[in-house]
Amino acid sequence: MNKRRLLITSGLPYANGAIHLGHMVEVIQTDIFARAMRMMGHEALYMCADDTHGTPIEISATKRGISPEQLIAEAWASHTKDFKGFDIDFAHYYTTNSPENKALAYGIYDSLLKAGLIREETVKQLYSESMQRFLPDRYVKGICPKCGAADQYGDCCEVCKAHYDALDLVEPHCVLDGSVPVVRESHHLFISLSSMTDELRRFAESDALEPEVRNFVKTWLDEGLQDWNISRDKPYFGFEIPGHPDKYFYVWMDAPIGYIATTDAWCKAHGESLDKYWRSPDTEVWHFIGKDIIYFHTLFWPAMLRVSGFSLPHRVHAHGFLTVNGTKMSKSRGTFILASKYLDVLPAAYLRFYFAAKLASGVEDIDLNIEDFYFRVRSGLIDNLANLHNRSFSFAETKLGGKLSTARYDDDCRKLIADAKARLAEIADLYANLNTAAAVKAICEIGNAANLFYQEKAPWAYLKGENADVEMARAIVTACAEVVRLIAIAIKPVVPDFSAKIFAQLNIGDQNLADVDAALGDGNVISHVEKTYIRPEREEFDKLTAPDALAAPAPVIPGDEKVEEKKVIEVERRPLKDLIDFEDFEKLDIRVGKVLACEKVKKSNKLLCSQVEIGHPDGPVQIVSGISKHYQPESMVGRYVLVVTNLKPREMFGLKSQGMILAASDEAGLELPSTILRAAGAQVK
Ligand code: 2FM
Ligand code: ZN
Repeated sequence: MNKRRLLITSGLPYANGAIHLGHMVEVIQTDIFARAMRMMGHEALYMCADDTHGTPIEISATKRGISPEQLIAEAWASHTKDFKGFDIDFAHYYTTNSPENKALAYGIYDSLLKAGLIREETVKQLYSESMQRFLPDRYVKGICPKCGAADQYGDCCEVCKAHYDALDLVEPHCVLDGSVPVVRESHHLFISLSSMTDELRRFAESDALEPEVRNFVKTWLDEGLQDWNISRDKPYFGFEIPGHPDKYFYVWMDAPIGYIATTDAWCKAHGESLDKYWRSPDTEVWHFIGKDIIYFHTLFWPAMLRVSGFSLPHRVHAHGFLTVNGTKMSKSRGTFILASKYLDVLPAAYLRFYFAAKLASGVEDIDLNIEDFYFRVRSGLIDNLANLHNRSFSFAETKLGGKLSTARYDDDCRKLIADAKARLAEIADLYANLNTAAAVKAICEIGNAANLFYQEKAPWAYLKGENADVEMARAIVTACAEVVRLIAIAIKPVVPDFSAKIFAQLNIGDQNLADVDAALGDGNVISHVEKTYIRPEREEFDKLTAPDALAAPAPVIPGDEKVEEKKVIEVERRPLKDLIDFEDFEKLDIRVGKVLACEKVKKSNKLLCSQVEIGHPDGPVQIVSGISKHYQPESMVGRYVLVVTNLKPREMFGLKSQGMILAASDEAGLELPSTILRAAGAQVK
């Protein structure tokens, strides 16, 4: 294997707000990529930091009567606590307000000066007489000068994506006090970006950018690059510009330098050289960012890196925004979910699994639909992967003394393992190409196959009667445990806590891709079996968007999310139907059935068609049910369900349906009543 060295970053969160699930999309995607790279045997360091400078920090601190340093220290403590709760494995999480960052920012500024790329100019700017300060772009709103959209900030338009000067805004007003700003002059420093157009075009055309991002960047280059103002007047929280008292570097100048400064601090603590990571062709620098900050990372940032002799990014990966239940996160709808609130309600692993199951390499927005979230966690993580672990490990420990053996492996056991193993290289490639959704799908397919194997081989049956064959039971369980081990390796970047529990119960220590061939067998013992996750209830998921989120105060400092109107959450309940006689109820023939096969009905987005064994002398019956939005066909196979067997047959989409699978639904979703069956003694998935 060609061992790679990767320096991986995600966008530095602002210190003036709490971490929310929008941040977590990016951080989880980055962490999965970094962990996957390490799982494959590469060196992958994930660096991140708080982005601490700028006007909002200074205003927030003044409002609270504390220093900006105190404010950013509080933010750092809160952010790092949240990230730890989500199992994010940073090599280092630092701050941009560090001595390393100051020294690097001064060094890069010096390189820009020496290259003749800094020019000075007196410019007109919007000034608030009531607040006695120049107004940063985000403190002014007005009509977009390019497309006419109302209510746009002073730097760029959210509708047409145009970047412009705040002075060009039509009908500007200050967002803090509504006053109409005046125009004043001030002296400023600019980076002459246009002289680097050819260089930046080469970068834009390189493999560092994905096609969609490349198209954005080429459009900006074709429009012509404006020189970039990197200075701000006091009052400001940031680094003072050498030789220019009362002028500070604009926060976006020193923020990305924080990537290098964080690495620098890590290098100092680990006796490493910064050049090895930032000035060497042997290190790939990977930036994960939101699609709103592509401009900074593909134009300003490469220009600064090039001039000061640092490596250009190997890859700038932009992802889409997070929506919740189909719309932009909103405090009034309770869908602006803070990371800390999430962690009070659900295990981090569920969100890691869900985001992984949805993320690929594009810039499409990703939706956290609470119902779908519950469904995917239940069907993929709990009922499939965790269930396979729990049923096979518990059986091994309680019935077979935990001892594993391959002595009686038959062709089926060997095929199960070989099929699973054959997919690990493919899964590694999918992670490397940021297609975690396909990686998770492949892992779940391995889990489904093993669950079916376990169900069909029924190891418990080998422990009963005169012809009991304990060693055959042991072989079946060993094959399943081996697949669980392979799954634990493959899914480790996504849910590392799951894998750690499995390796511990197998008593084998941490495992990586290089350990795939170190198969379990005679001598391996399973012990201290515990469930990886407790099967969650649907109500737990609803707590994420419960109305108590309305209590959060609306932010007033720009840079935070927008203030939105409050709306009342109303749940529509169906009225109860009229009472029926017991005799009517008695007419129903309800039995436990086992789903043998199941597939989606073509051209229908609601229906699944199942072959269900109900003990009928003519064999399994075919039942068409409207449950496809809640259960995937593969999660139905092997499941025990309640069936009304004497419903008159009817036809749907050209398919005969010979009964009805019972399910119950409310506004929260639809459930097959598996707990009832467990009480009745059936073997339930
Ligand atoms: O958009 C943001 O949240 C910025 N704080 C990201 C900075 S990324 C890097 F350039 F520092
Ligand atoms: Zn516009």
